[in-house]
Amino acid sequence: MEYTKILYDEHEVIISAVEMIESSESLLNDDPEKWKVFCKKMIYFFRNYADKYHHHKEEQLLFPKISQENEVMGMNIIAEMLENHNDFRDYLSEIEECLNSDISKAFLKISDYCEHLSDHISVENEELFISVETLLSENDLETMMYQFQDIDRDLGEVKKKELEESLEEIKQMF
Ligand SMILES: [Fe+2]
Ligand SMILES: [Fe+2]
Repeated sequence: MEYTKILYDEHEVIISAVEMIESSESLLNDDPEKWKVFCKKMIYFFRNYADKYHHHKEEQLLFPKISQENEVMGMNIIAEMLENHNDFRDYLSEIEECLNSDISKAFLKISDYCEHLSDHISVENEELFISVETLLSENDLETMMYQFQDIDRDLGEVKKKELEESLEEIKQMF
């Protein structure tokens, strides 16, 4: 847990964004134009935080390391997690397209996206991150933890904090 704390913490932030989507249906019904603005801000968050900061760490460091240590996991759970990440990217583009043509469809799609994202996070929390701590040596785990921090530094720690705080501001919309 200690070595993957940064990933667990990011999951918590992402889940709080998922919960905001789930509770936004009344905003959609009351003020569709405002929901559209809300949805665009959330897409920005998911693209920049969930994908850029979080999935990036998993894809660049965690997944290759696990695949290297355990070929079976690489072919199964890691392949599945990678496929999910690609699906998530496609979802966001589709939601964005729907926003201009069919707002109800955009809501259904983003709800679907959130359900899959939340399932994906549960698998990582309850299976993957636990097995990684038994699979890798203490030394490898420590190195990976520092590399996670390097990724945040490269992408910008201030920007990361701003993205986390942006959720509080977006919440004020409803
Ligand atoms: Fe993931
Ligand atoms: Fe994750």
